[in-house]
Amino acid sequence: MTDRLANARARLERVGQGHVLRHASRLNKAQQDRLLSQVEAIDWHQVTRLVEAYVSNKPRFAMPRKLEPAEFYPAQPPANLAGKYVDARALGERLIREGKVAAFTVAGGQGTRLGWEGPKGIYPATPLRRLSLFGCFAEYLRKVHSKYGRRCPWYIMTSPANDAATRQYFQENDHLGLDPADVVFFPQAMMPAFDMASGRVLLESPDSLALSPDGHGGSLKALHRSGALEDMRRRGIEQISYIQVDNPIVKVIDPLFVGLHALDRCQMSSKMVPKAYPKERLGNFCMVDGRVTVIEYSDLPDELAEQRIRGGPRDGQLRFQAGSIAVHVIRVDFVEAINASGDFALPYHRAEKKVPYWDFDRDAPVDPPQPNAVKLETFVFDALPLCERSIILETDRVEEFAPIKNADGVDSPATSRALQIERAARWLESRGVRVPRNAEGEPDAVLEIRPLTAIEPDDLDPASLPKTIARGSEVLI
Ligand code: UD1
Repeated sequence: MTDRLANARARLERVGQGHVLRHASRLNKAQQDRLLSQVEAIDWHQVTRLVEAYVSNKPRFAMPRKLEPAEFYPAQPPANLAGKYVDARALGERLIREGKVAAFTVAGGQGTRLGWEGPKGIYPATPLRRLSLFGCFAEYLRKVHSKYGRRCPWYIMTSPANDAATRQYFQENDHLGLDPADVVFFPQAMMPAFDMASGRVLLESPDSLALSPDGHGGSLKALHRSGALEDMRRRGIEQISYIQVDNPIVKVIDPLFVGLHALDRCQMSSKMVPKAYPKERLGNFCMVDGRVTVIEYSDLPDELAEQRIRGGPRDGQLRFQAGSIAVHVIRVDFVEAINASGDFALPYHRAEKKVPYWDFDRDAPVDPPQPNAVKLETFVFDALPLCERSIILETDRVEEFAPIKNADGVDSPATSRALQIERAARWLESRGVRVPRNAEGEPDAVLEIRPLTAIEPDDLDPASLPKTIARGSEVLI
């Protein structure tokens, strides 16, 4: 037995996970190396603590004693804030022009709900061109470049499971028209799945652990460990515009949002939409002990979720109405500071999942019919309570939130397509184009506006637009 194998075995035996390498002597050299590399990448002391805290025990969500709705900047500024919004937008645009803003997409998720093989960013998202999600973001950034005269670097967090396929997609597609030097990929860390009953780490095959990405909260560590933060420093980046991979109409970089966040000297800020109904599957922006805190929809008690405002200009609206669309602006020095403190750890969230595993007694894989495993993830919004200052900006759902998460039903390709077409119709109408609508008021044409043409309605030049869209037609602007 090699020293490497013996050392790893001893380490695992000490923490009660000796089964991982018990069959390793039957593996060939390449298989052993693969498994040992995975084992060596894991902090086993932490694993013991996590099993105790989250697997053997089911931590109950500790409802804060005092939970208040978080304040937010409304999408349309009231008269007393109109000037501030103008200043904020000007500041955001200046920061972009000075090269101080980078885009950051978390794309390490597995996309299981959508049932799409391969990186989700490759999913064809737009109504006519079937442009991929990554394609939408790339065109947005190319438009930012042409509007502001400055290229914004784009950082993309992958996972070890989709890193190679993601890079290959960019290479085969000419980096989607971007300069390769401006697209920086780095993988996030992985976390083993645990057998729910025993707390033992699962193997998916004799030479591999059952690993999955450690949650988008892992991005705050991965930015540091990968050297991406240093790269940002070298380029003079101060603000990170954080987006998820699933939303084709997201404003990849929004000058108003960046500007409000910078003007108010915040560490990390967020965007929200008013929830469509009390238990919509969005994180809820709340205030706990004077800090912005996201409470997941599953943790917000029904009684609070249903509460409505009585009286005043917002009469009848949900009291906890601010739903997270998972868009943030984060200061580079905030990410540096939390990493510098060494012991920085976001809380883990426990999910019970069906995880296929290898049964060594039968020497065969098992596809469990019921959840058999615990997966642990951290969430990026759990960094919000670490901020002294943090703002929330309201936005319009049709303008900015058309996520593709599920194969059908809510947040599916079909709902996203309808929202994309509605947004295109609104933009065209705002520039004087007549768009046919059906009895339900929905656009009666398939419309798509290239981000290269416009990332906001004012980018559309009325002189180059059709006067009228024909009913039932397909129009690409
Ligand atoms: C998320 C938020 C929710 C928010 C909603 C808005 C959580 C738990 N909830 O829900 O508060 O209202 O989006 O759309 O996040 N990812 C990684 N690495 C991982 C896991 C995820 O990069 O290890 C990325 C995915 O690629 C994706 C994003 O994070 O871009 C969202 O992940 P997902 O787990 O699908 O979150 P949602 O349940 O959609």
